[in-house]
Amino acid sequence: MNRILIVGASRGLGQAMAAEFTGRGWRVVGTVRGPGTPLHGLAAEQPDRLEIETLDLTDADRILAVRDRLADRRFEIVFVNGGVVNRNPGATLAGVSTEEFVHVMATNVLGVMRAVEAFGPLVRPGGVIGVMSSGQGSVANNANGVNDLYRASKAALNQAMASYAGRHAGEGPALVLMAPGWIRTDLGGANAPFGIEEAMPQIVDVLIAQQGETGLRYLDRYGRTVPW
Ligand SMILES: NC(=O)c1ccc[n+]([C@@H]2O[C@H](COP(=O)([O-])OP(=O)(O)OC[C@H]3O[C@@H](n4cnc5c(N)ncnc54)[C@H](OP(=O)(O)O)[C@@H]3O)[C@@H](O)[C@H]2O)c1
Repeated sequence: MNRILIVGASRGLGQAMAAEFTGRGWRVVGTVRGPGTPLHGLAAEQPDRLEIETLDLTDADRILAVRDRLADRRFEIVFVNGGVVNRNPGATLAGVSTEEFVHVMATNVLGVMRAVEAFGPLVRPGGVIGVMSSGQGSVANNANGVNDLYRASKAALNQAMASYAGRHAGEGPALVLMAPGWIRTDLGGANAPFGIEEAMPQIVDVLIAQQGETGLRYLDRYGRTVPW
């Protein structure tokens, strides 16, 4: 049976990814930060398919503790989904507080890369390590200059994954930076043009298709390369 670990799966795209993979017959381990999430609801419906672990991406010790709990497991895919946006996305980078800058960067870059380093070795040969980037992480596509901090965090994540890929050049697993598109979630907001139900099957198709590949790709949910 195929297995995936999804880090940051309590709600939104992460929970929808867990639902999509369980629906396709995969076993899923999903992480949350606290009780009573939509992922817990899914686990109640699919107790044989879905397990829940607890970690916060900003807690390095907890990431390692969960890694130790899962040390004997192997996964076809490890996907690190968790991420945050600052309260006022219209603020310039100089306009956000130091506290907020650190919070967004510590979650979207440092925490995600700690999870990649910790859980990456649990991926089977021929598998995939994916992280949730964003089209807003593209420097080449940044023509309108909003969401400065969020964009900077996802661009930094892309760069950090390029460093990871360089250190593992010529080896599996495949590495994927996913740009899912603008999707209606708490983070994406109500004005986003796409719904989760439409987008998630496409995201999952792209991840599954990367099995057996090597190297790093920055892909949208149609499998197209996003300009760096
Ligand atoms: N929606 C979009 O349009 C869009 C577009 C491009 C990229 N993305 C990316 O997709 C990912 C999921 O976003 P979403 O739209 O599903 O947003 P969401 O509904 O706000 O969900 C965010 C998820 O990240 C988790 N998370 C936040 N901080 C965390 C931390 N410190 N440790 C562990 N988990 C943490 C949340 O857990 P809690 O429930 O515990 O808060 C939740 O599961 C993010 O990386 C986001 O940047 C979204």
